[in-house]
Amino acid sequence: MKTARSTALLLLLSQLFLHVDATLVSKAGQVAVIPTWDLQSTAVVGNDLGKLSRDRLDTESWYHAPVSKCTLIGCLIEAKVYNETELFFSDNLRKLDENKFLVPWIYRSEFTLQPTPGQHFFLQTNGISSRADIYLNGKKVANSSEQAGSYVGRRYDITDIVRTENVLAIKVYPTDYYRDLALGWVDWNPWPTDNGTGVWRDVEIKQTGPVVLDPLRVVPYLGAPLTLPVKVSLRARLHNLEDRAITIEAVAQVALESGGTKYTRRQLITIPPKSSLDIFFEEFIENPQIWWPRQWGDQPLYIANLTIQTIDGNISDHASATFGLRSVTRQLNAHNDTIFFVNNRPFQVIGAGYTPNMFLRFDPAKWETELRYALDLGLNTIRLEGKNEHPELYNIADRLGMMLLAGWECCDKWEAWDYNPDLAVSPTPVWTDEDYAIAHESMFHETLMMQAHPSVLGFLIGSDYWPDERATSLYLEAARKADFQLPVIGAASKRGFSMQTGPSGMRMDGPYDWVPPNYWTTPDTLGTAAGFASELSAGVGTPGSLSSLEQFLTADDMDDLWRQPNKSLFHMSRAGSPFDTREIYNAALWARWGAPTSLDDYLMKAQLMDYEATRAQFEAFRAHWGDGRVLAQGSKGPATGMIYWMLNNAWPGLHWSLWDYYMRPGGSYFGAKVAGREEHVAFSYATKDVWAMNRALEVPIGQEKRRIEVSVLGVDGKEMFKGTSVFTTKPNWSGRVESLREVLGKVNDTVFLRLILTDEKGKTLSRNIYWLAPEIDVLDWEQSDWYFTPVTKYADFTALNKLEPADITIDAVVDGDGVFVTVENHAMVPAFFIKFDLVDEHGRDVLPLTWDENYVTLWPKEKLTLRAGVVQGRKWEPVQLKAVGKNTEKTIRLKRK
Ligand SMILES: *[C@@H]1O[C@H](CO)[C@@H](O)[C@H](O)[C@H]1NC(C)=O
Ligand SMILES: *[C@@H]1O[C@H](CO)[C@@H](O)[C@H](O)[C@H]1NC(C)=O
Ligand SMILES: *[C@@H]1O[C@H](CO)[C@@H](O)[C@H](O)[C@H]1NC(C)=O
Ligand SMILES: *[C@@H]1O[C@H](CO)[C@@H](O)[C@H](O)[C@H]1NC(C)=O
Ligand SMILES: *[C@@H]1O[C@H](CO)[C@@H](O)[C@H](O)[C@H]1NC(C)=O
Ligand SMILES: *[C@@H]1O[C@H](CO)[C@@H](O)[C@H](O)[C@H]1NC(C)=O
Ligand SMILES: *[C@@H]1O[C@H](CO)[C@@H](O)[C@H](O)[C@H]1NC(C)=O
Ligand SMILES: *[C@@H]1O[C@H](CO)[C@@H](O)[C@H](O)[C@H]1NC(C)=O
Ligand SMILES: *[C@@H]1O[C@H](CO)[C@@H](O)[C@H](O)[C@H]1NC(C)=O
Repeated sequence: MKTARSTALLLLLSQLFLHVDATLVSKAGQVAVIPTWDLQSTAVVGNDLGKLSRDRLDTESWYHAPVSKCTLIGCLIEAKVYNETELFFSDNLRKLDENKFLVPWIYRSEFTLQPTPGQHFFLQTNGISSRADIYLNGKKVANSSEQAGSYVGRRYDITDIVRTENVLAIKVYPTDYYRDLALGWVDWNPWPTDNGTGVWRDVEIKQTGPVVLDPLRVVPYLGAPLTLPVKVSLRARLHNLEDRAITIEAVAQVALESGGTKYTRRQLITIPPKSSLDIFFEEFIENPQIWWPRQWGDQPLYIANLTIQTIDGNISDHASATFGLRSVTRQLNAHNDTIFFVNNRPFQVIGAGYTPNMFLRFDPAKWETELRYALDLGLNTIRLEGKNEHPELYNIADRLGMMLLAGWECCDKWEAWDYNPDLAVSPTPVWTDEDYAIAHESMFHETLMMQAHPSVLGFLIGSDYWPDERATSLYLEAARKADFQLPVIGAASKRGFSMQTGPSGMRMDGPYDWVPPNYWTTPDTLGTAAGFASELSAGVGTPGSLSSLEQFLTADDMDDLWRQPNKSLFHMSRAGSPFDTREIYNAALWARWGAPTSLDDYLMKAQLMDYEATRAQFEAFRAHWGDGRVLAQGSKGPATGMIYWMLNNAWPGLHWSLWDYYMRPGGSYFGAKVAGREEHVAFSYATKDVWAMNRALEVPIGQEKRRIEVSVLGVDGKEMFKGTSVFTTKPNWSGRVESLREVLGKVNDTVFLRLILTDEKGKTLSRNIYWLAPEIDVLDWEQSDWYFTPVTKYADFTALNKLEPADITIDAVVDGDGVFVTVENHAMVPAFFIKFDLVDEHGRDVLPLTWDENYVTLWPKEKLTLRAGVVQGRKWEPVQLKAVGKNTEKTIRLKRK
């Protein structure tokens, strides 16, 4: 009895609190998201949305997701039914029962409003995967023809339905990637068992007076020079909700987020009954603070506000937008390749392809870390291929200065054109009238959401295949309506184009699987780094350490990595794709480095392969920016852009990423990072040329002289060559400064090559070490496939397995948010490929963190100092430094300053 009574009391109390907490909006101009959901399968609670949304209901037995947005599996993780770590472990995901997700589910939420006469209420969606019926208080708000498409956001008038106590119920229908315009994964990873079905984006409730505003659009017009006042145009559509004319005062304000001059303008407008009109404001911003990509400058942001008041001073609605003053344009150059200009400066895109979490669980803190890593690597762009995520993603990119190339995803329903040969092998029906309408609405919603964000570089309306003329025209019309003033590009490939967009100027010729480092600089081949390459890589991204693998693999799974080189692995790409094994990669690893003798040996060899692969790709694209002499098939011009495939993984994967799922940077990260330095010196495996590159906006006059020191060592540590050369650097420049053909022609052994670039004062700008086999890998270009080019003879690095051990000493001091590591090689041979890791007192890796460089090679008697830094705002308690190289190993305790 007592227990029952206290439970009842608790229930009453929690309902009381619920009542108080759940008042979503109470004033005109306010918008609030539905903060939490109860959810249940229709197999359990039936299909009667009218009933489920009508009254009080005991939802005790439902699942409770304390978040505003989640896919079905995402919600069940939030509700602690599933544990993501466990789902991601080994092949546990395979064991989830798909049948559970083949029926519709109900999302339900109760909330309080304060409806009063003259006040209007709206329910706003931003995309539900992939169809939904929406009911409020027993009445239909929308059905599955109206709320269809993962990116379709609509505003529904619910004024006549709202009460003080409200019940919202949304029935979501199972998503089919072949039939729905949803978010699919193609071959990236296994598909989530629910196909991402659910309320994956926020649902909002908005309250207004008699006039409601559509989102505020902001269009800045930058002048040349950039110091001229900038005209900023503010635009919005107004709707009079009443059946009488209404006169309103619109007040627009613009100011720097950090303060300063506030520009205010007012307009009096009379809107006829039940009608809509557009409102425009123009403002000239004096002394404009220009927004730059991170590597070129600061990221000042402005805020624009628009407030609509009735003549008695009551606020009717309010809208605001954060924006930056920057311009983006895009042209086809003389070679028909896309080249972007940011603030009128030619902008070589050096980027990578992004994936969200497999269950679309967006974590702003993780995204911020990912951006900080990407900036640390020297990337300036991230491609979002149909994974356009949430406004928060753009806000964070705006603040950190990373450009985003948004767009629609490849394949599946999105590219169901009768001229797409993939259609023949997938059960995807071509578009119906309804699909065209959904695509149009999707484009409008997304471009409207993105339009003010300075981080957005453009929108690709096709990926592998270009949309047909009807779809292209709908996409372009939607973008125009949204005042999306950024480049809209027809596709990410050169397979064809719509007459309305013209050629994309982007190529998509692969590779996606392993190719040797000379692939990228062999002149006049498919591989030559040239033009704008929209997605490509040697496919690497092996997690860098045992501690990573242990988080998601069993001992047997780990054994498979080195004992079963050709096996299909669940943590590679989706089963059935060419990328579900590591066969091409492993064939190269075995041939080039010798069969691994243990898992540790495999991981070491894999990191050598990964570092070499990413460095070669990034260096080649940077080197070929501005080189008219490069000749390649398909694109004969300078390398104007490159999107590395890929940035990150949707879950703990074994390839296609620059760091592992737990944010451990490995070989692929540090190879790319070496190549990402502002000023850099690089070697071409194929041509034996030494290249220098500089992506600074300016080099002070009189400080352009540079020096390169070249040295070559045998595996025994004997110096085989030493020389220097001098040259003059320039901003926005790359060029060939020297040939080592003669020097290396005399060498028929495995050697190390060290390049050191210094400025006039002798300061090291870049130090770059290669290990070179007696002969380079031989590619069989004729046999190239869409995802790789086979190798007929592999380079032989096995001499490096027999390096003499190197004795090193290390000194490491913690100083604030950095650890300073001084390492010295006392041996007569190089200390080869030393990976430094920081661990805490529990032996766990300290993450996330950045290193100046890692996988470091030291010449005999060489001494280097490196810094590891904490990634902003994180707790930082390293106690130990572990150093593991190919011929050396050491663990030391850190000193405190
Ligand atoms: C999920 O499982 C892992 C490993 O079993 C555990 O460490 C973690 O705490 C669990 N997470 C939650 C939210 O319960
Ligand atoms: C949804 O509602 C619209 C308009 O009321 C109607 O034309 C359409 O047939 C409905 N669709 C479904 C699937 O019920
Ligand atoms: C997911 O999509 C695939 C292909 O479109 C389909 O075969 C499968 O049944 C879908 N699964 C669910 C749970 O809807
Ligand atoms: C915009 O509106 C917000 C909230 O009403 C206010 O805090 C801010 O000062 C306004 N900013 C400008 C530039 O008017
Ligand atoms: C303005 O607000 C007051 C107080 O809420 C209300 O009495 C009045 O009717 C409102 N005026 C209009 C034009 O809505
Ligand atoms: C670029 O495209 C145009 C029109 O499609 C064509 O006439 C021209 O020859 C092309 N230029 C090059 C360098 O391929
Ligand atoms: C794996 O496949 C390669 C060809 O790609 C073959 O040469 C090798 O023998 C196979 N290894 C095993 C262990 O099956
Ligand atoms: C920068 O380099 C690109 C590529 O070579 C070239 O097109 C552009 O004209 C250069 N711009 C300046 C300002 O030097
Ligand atoms: C390297 O070349 C030299 C002279 O050209 C020759 O004597 C030597 O045997 C060669 N070594 C190898 C490993 O082929």
